[in-house]
Amino acid sequence: MRLGVLTSGGDAPGMNAAIRAAVRQADALGIEAWGIHHGFRGIVGGDRAADGLRKAGIEALVVIGGDGSFRGAEALWVEQGIRCGGIPGTIDNDLPGTDRTLGFDTALNTAVEAIDRIRDTASSHDRIFLVEVMGRSSGMLAVHTAIACGAEFVLYPEAEDDTFEELIRQLKLSAERGKGSSIVVVAEGDQLGSAVGLGERLRRDYGLDLRVAVLGHIQRGGSPTALDRIWGSRWGAEAVKRLAKGEEAFYLGVHAGDLVALPLATVRERPSPPPKDLAALLAVLAR
Ligand code: F6P
Repeated sequence: MRLGVLTSGGDAPGMNAAIRAAVRQADALGIEAWGIHHGFRGIVGGDRAADGLRKAGIEALVVIGGDGSFRGAEALWVEQGIRCGGIPGTIDNDLPGTDRTLGFDTALNTAVEAIDRIRDTASSHDRIFLVEVMGRSSGMLAVHTAIACGAEFVLYPEAEDDTFEELIRQLKLSAERGKGSSIVVVAEGDQLGSAVGLGERLRRDYGLDLRVAVLGHIQRGGSPTALDRIWGSRWGAEAVKRLAKGEEAFYLGVHAGDLVALPLATVRERPSPPPKDLAALLAVLAR
């Protein structure tokens, strides 16, 4: 049997551990593993993807990526009969059916470490900082970062009732409580706009002396945490074992601490929003 392994979409820390495990597990089962460069583009251009795979003798694929990658994998299975096993790899932690995705823990720790440093200078100068973290349509990274770094407020896409007025109210409340500095974590996809845009508005309309930091792609790089390495290894090996047994279209995840496998079609469901209790907890911790 010959197996293809590819990553697709945004890179995430821990993907290398998953590739390593997939290749070594394949080797242990006497399966030939082929690495495919450049994601789906690497399987011979456009709609000839399945032909390219068949010509190379590849019977099944391990696809490491996020929702877009899994939709591509699902299409390959449904339209072309190529068996696909997915490993959830995205720092956004926004895939339905799994409590975490590969890279989320590392990105979270990177963001927290960066904001700890920002907090030092913010306290030193009694300043407000708006810190933008990644997450185009998901507030998972923003809410978890805000709790972990003791932010005063968080703005994220799923919090539909967040308003500019509420942000102002929270900043005033912080000042009244005697806090010299405040950290507001902003998810890049927040409906109120980017941290840069919000910062300009706060300076212009409220005369606030604030600073803006956009963490950007530093969240996608760096050395993966032990948790991401371990889950990458477990998922990489498990995907190969399941494909070797003939399983057809699934992706892996973790639920309540256990490894789970979900039908690929699950990717079309709505991802879970950040837990409501975390947002509520932030309001208490920020007092
Ligand atoms: O999906 C992962 C992610 O890092 C998002 O958080 C972010 O919005 C997006 O990718 C950025 O993509 P790009 O690297 O293409 O700008």
